[in-house]
Amino acid sequence: MTDEPFEIYLVTPPGLEPALCQEAREKGFADPVASVGGVTVRGGWPEVWRANLDLRGATKVLARIGAFRALHLAQLDKRARKFPWAEVLRPDQPVKVEASCKGSRIYHAGAVVQRISAAIREELGAPIAEDAEIRVMARIEDDLCTISVDTSGELLHRRGHKEAVNKAPLRETLAALFLRECGYDGTEPVLDPMCGSGTFVIEAAEIAAGLRPGRSRDFAFERLATFDPAAWDRLREPPPARPVPFRFLGHDRDAGAIAMSRANAERAGVAGITDFRRQPLAELQRPEGPPGLVMVNPPYGTRIGNKKLLYALYASLGEVLRSRFSGWRVGLVTSEPSLARATGLPFAEPGLPVPHGGLKVGLHRTAAPLK
Ligand SMILES: C[S@@+](CC[C@H](N)C(=O)[O-])C[C@H]1O[C@@H](n2cnc3c(N)ncnc32)[C@H](O)[C@@H]1O
Repeated sequence: MTDEPFEIYLVTPPGLEPALCQEAREKGFADPVASVGGVTVRGGWPEVWRANLDLRGATKVLARIGAFRALHLAQLDKRARKFPWAEVLRPDQPVKVEASCKGSRIYHAGAVVQRISAAIREELGAPIAEDAEIRVMARIEDDLCTISVDTSGELLHRRGHKEAVNKAPLRETLAALFLRECGYDGTEPVLDPMCGSGTFVIEAAEIAAGLRPGRSRDFAFERLATFDPAAWDRLREPPPARPVPFRFLGHDRDAGAIAMSRANAERAGVAGITDFRRQPLAELQRPEGPPGLVMVNPPYGTRIGNKKLLYALYASLGEVLRSRFSGWRVGLVTSEPSLARATGLPFAEPGLPVPHGGLKVGLHRTAAPLK
């Protein structure tokens, strides 16, 4: 299986599959196909590594390492024992097995976990542990058992250079896909007037500078039998720095948020092209230079109190942007469409709501630059 291309499944929250599919295609992954909750591409292990390193929108990357039919548990047991685990897993690395069953004669996921764990432990010799970094997933659907390995480990929104987080931070993977859905491609400035820990501003600056999202972290695939450290080192060789002729701006009324954003930008290596300044929304001014994109995720939903104040805040955001940001586009992320409407901004129909932190958030985009 090491040389043959296989299916690589890129997980994303439902609603964002088309954006991730577009990103995968743009970044040269073969035959991306979107389905509910993810995008399938084809490739070998180098593509698995590159997907983890380069894709901004994937939550995690699963390698589908094989499949066999299993009509009953004895057959599952026998075939799991014959499965070529040693081609992918290492006997010295603990493994955790997860399972799901759908529309199959085998319907008890716990029994599947037990059989596959026994096969890995007894045939390969790898320990089975609840807190293992390597996760094997068995999915039985229509009596076909598909085996995948989670090659990412920690979720990919953890870029590895963001330690400081404010209340209600947006996941980087979501922020990157929302930027993409607003047509952002790194060639215009981005401003966030309520930046919190700086997620939109830092993602946008990294995209403009050509920095790879996975450059500062490690991945579960480094502990698989298929890993080739020399090839990985060559792959992650940083591309030449791309000059960026404008700055990315973040404001917040909260001094702690600004300090966090600065620290995060520093660690991400984009301090030179970002500017974070404490400032309440009412004082927001249009920056000098070319127009670009305002990306904002104001307080919302159940997380931060009083509804009336929220409507007033969204109304003043709309007023400030309409009166001072002619030529700019706006992308606004919030949990309630009525809050987006309170801005009075000319938003196009919102996309599907996306699950995030126990709520559903939607992206509201202006169809054209503000007049
Ligand atoms: C939902 S959080 C933004 C989170 C951010 N997207 C992140 O990923 O960390 C909303 C932010 O709006 C800020 N905020 C609320 N009212 C404000 C105002 N009137 N002016 C400026 N910032 C404000 C809060 O301090 C908070 O950091």
